[in-house]
Amino acid sequence: MRAYDIILKKRNGHGLTRKDINYLIDGFVKGNIPDYQMAAWSMAVYFQGLSEEETKYLTESMINSGDTINLSSIPGCKVDKHSTGGVADTTTLILVPLVAAAGVPVVKMSGRGLGHTGGTIDKLEAIPGFNVELDIDTILKLAMKSGAVIAGQTGNLVPADKKLYSLRDVTATVDIISLIASSVMSKKIAAGADKILLDVKTGKGAFMKTKEQALELARTMVKIGVGMKRETVALITNMDQPLGRALGNALEVKEAILTLRGDLKGDLYDLSIELASEMLLMAKTVRDKIEARTLLKDLIEKGRAVDKFAEIIENQGGNPGVVEDLSLLPHAPTTTPVLASMDGYIWELDAEKLGRAAMVLGAGREYKEQKILLEVGVTLNKRIGDAVTIGECIANIHSMNFHNLDAALGLITEAVRIETEKPKEYPLVFGRIAD
Ligand code: URA
Ligand code: CA
Repeated sequence: MRAYDIILKKRNGHGLTRKDINYLIDGFVKGNIPDYQMAAWSMAVYFQGLSEEETKYLTESMINSGDTINLSSIPGCKVDKHSTGGVADTTTLILVPLVAAAGVPVVKMSGRGLGHTGGTIDKLEAIPGFNVELDIDTILKLAMKSGAVIAGQTGNLVPADKKLYSLRDVTATVDIISLIASSVMSKKIAAGADKILLDVKTGKGAFMKTKEQALELARTMVKIGVGMKRETVALITNMDQPLGRALGNALEVKEAILTLRGDLKGDLYDLSIELASEMLLMAKTVRDKIEARTLLKDLIEKGRAVDKFAEIIENQGGNPGVVEDLSLLPHAPTTTPVLASMDGYIWELDAEKLGRAAMVLGAGREYKEQKILLEVGVTLNKRIGDAVTIGECIANIHSMNFHNLDAALGLITEAVRIETEKPKEYPLVFGRIAD
């Protein structure tokens, strides 16, 4: 068997066998198949696509390329959640304590941010002392003790994806539904989840710009999950505007705490309740959505959700006092308001441009090894559909002195559009895909 023949076969639009795909992935990980052949194959896949079968073979091969985590020692159904990447999407920080407070264990492995979207692990490092680098024994121990743990990826999980993703990133082959689906699902399955909940974002700030693309990605991932005996459910959710009101690491932790305390309601709260309800339903600890929502809202109101977050923070070496005293989080020395240029209604709060504004201030990375600033970012006072008057403060820029302030201001100004008519409302959740 030769890599050349597999590339040729795909280029000419023919199907690949399980053996072909195993050969390719195995050879690539071992360094026997060079980057240029894998890049050519990825481009052939871009134009010819992968069938459902081929996508499943690829996912299996990628899982088999490294270690997998066994969570069977933790009692109960372990439901993992994955978001395809959003702006001001702090749902993980809310869901893990909330779902755990409802009695369903959550072992969450998260990543760092890249580009205009943030990463959970970066956000957690804004909490003084919080340790995200846990070994597998510690993860299992904490999951047993508290039913909740959030850590960076540990062990040698899916090395094939690490290598392939870096290559796709520089060869214009990231936006291929079959490759995204196998990349995401291989990591979720290798991380040991029994069941998987997917939050597939669509809109200006998302990978999938249209609902049709998001639906196709969701269907592809659900099929992979079900094909590998992991019940998988996907919600298609709106990412035209940032989900929450805060962009930036410490600012997002603060927003997550306020939400867990029940002191802040809005889209972030609503979506967190929806996603958490799905997780309880999948774990079969509630009869229906209504029971789930009632339970979850009650856990927030009674302070049990935020107490669980404090417990997670304490378990992982952080200062649990932050949940009561938000001033313990780092904050930026300079705050600059952004003012409305006319009377009217907010029509656009472009999530990607706002995410980039936070990034240029130092909240995110343009390249992988870049150091980030935990305290900087943007907070929004308005949502799409809100009325504004000229000169009113729409947003605040939180910066390190005046570092890149003009660049951020320019991006925010571009991101906001005000019109005189009120825009029509559109939903937060567009759809739900299950088998
Ligand atoms: N996120 C992933 O994990 N993989 C992809 O291929 C794209 C986005
Ligand atoms: Ca309260």
